[in-house]
Amino acid sequence: MAATRLLCLSYARAASSSKALGRAGWRNVCTSPSRLQGCMSAWVIDQYGTNGVLKYTEEISIPTVSSPQEVMIKVHAASLNPLDVSMRGGYGAKLLKLRRDPLSVMDSDSEFPLILGRDVSGVVVDCGSEVTHFAPGDEVWAAVPPWKQGSLAEFVTLTEYEVSHKPKLLSHTEAASIPYVANTALSALVNAGGLCRDSASNKRVLITGGSGGVGTFTIQLLKAWGANVTVTCSQNAEGLVRGLGADEVVDYTAGDAAEQLEMMEKFDVILDSVGGETEQWVMGKLKPWSGAKYVTLVTPLLHNTDSMGLLDGALSAVFTLNSKVTQNMISSGIFYRWGFYAPDGPALDEVSKLVDEGKILPVVEAQFPFTQVPQAFQKLEEGHARGKTVVRVAEEDDRQAEELVQNSRTETAESEQEVPKTAKQH
Ligand SMILES: NC(=O)c1ccc[n+]([C@@H]2O[C@H](COP(=O)([O-])OP(=O)(O)OC[C@H]3O[C@@H](n4cnc5c(N)ncnc54)[C@H](OP(=O)(O)O)[C@@H]3O)[C@@H](O)[C@H]2O)c1
Repeated sequence: MAATRLLCLSYARAASSSKALGRAGWRNVCTSPSRLQGCMSAWVIDQYGTNGVLKYTEEISIPTVSSPQEVMIKVHAASLNPLDVSMRGGYGAKLLKLRRDPLSVMDSDSEFPLILGRDVSGVVVDCGSEVTHFAPGDEVWAAVPPWKQGSLAEFVTLTEYEVSHKPKLLSHTEAASIPYVANTALSALVNAGGLCRDSASNKRVLITGGSGGVGTFTIQLLKAWGANVTVTCSQNAEGLVRGLGADEVVDYTAGDAAEQLEMMEKFDVILDSVGGETEQWVMGKLKPWSGAKYVTLVTPLLHNTDSMGLLDGALSAVFTLNSKVTQNMISSGIFYRWGFYAPDGPALDEVSKLVDEGKILPVVEAQFPFTQVPQAFQKLEEGHARGKTVVRVAEEDDRQAEELVQNSRTETAESEQEVPKTAKQH
């Protein structure tokens, strides 16, 4: 993986250094310590609740680099995930607080002000002394772990391991739609589902909830890996998922989804992003006694720790998991697993390549300016996602940068045109 990182690095450095020449404004940000030490604008919550708790402020301290492995990113775009809506309401608060700071569990207010937003596409502005893969000016993307301050802010700081060079073909708005769902899908498919680029070919995989953020990414990843992909979704999403490569589509609203799936050859892996009742009826669609795996993204772990406390909740979750693992293994030889998001910059490097090869497209359903973060949350809360909802955080900078690049291109083109003219005259 280190070798991959190095390959990506040299390529991206070459691209970003030429880009940096045209983006003098950003270089100033990178080199001006005073600019990096003040306050920034962000959407924060000071308490858990409904959309009314979201608050815009310009008085949040800039998250400066505080360890040698950290990378500070100027956020250009962020995207929302169902987790943001849940976290706004307090989901996972106890476990995430423990993860943030093990000594602060007894302090009921210490996580506030909390910044939500799990995806970032932006530009590196500062690096710790041990950072080797990134330099100021690099265009990067990343998924922000839920225990860290999020990306609905001007700046976010992550460890080098969590960050990756952004695909060159995507705008920041497009790029921000991918990292969190990509890290989740890869962690679930590879670590829990036992699939990878070399082993997925011709494997039959069922994705439930194929029309959402995770589903629209996972279809494309699995098709790039050569798998045969069946998807459950609403009828009006069939065109979308087929366009992304789904081989078979089952309309779960038709009432006979279980029967439709029964007519098909059984599956090697199911990635369930719906859970609940779906878990009951899809389980029987896996090939018995052949190493088939059921991986669900909908787990009771954080609900349990929220409602029962950390110890009882974790024990209850482990008990639930163990009993399902045992029951499915004994009854049909099926591996029952929980899938989780995991931070993984090198995995995003691989996704970046697939994007630049045109094998994975961003699916951006809705975009909102930074001033309309509450509206973006409302959109997500309404459900029926068809891909991702993105927030454009640094619109002005984007425009200024594009203008600078455009101007420098125009100047270059003009000077190039002048050369032959002069040459002819001579
Ligand atoms: N464990 C983890 O670390 C982790 C990480 C990421 C996501 N997740 C969870 O995974 C789930 C999916 O995430 P996401 O980002 O893809 O959510 P999303 O973008 O909101 O998409 C959900 C999709 O499922 C569809 N849907 C709803 N009910 C369905 C059903 N019964 N059968 C088939 N499709 C159905 C929805 O469209 P219609 O309602 O129009 O059909 C929507 O397109 C969420 O519960 C999320 O919290 C877990």
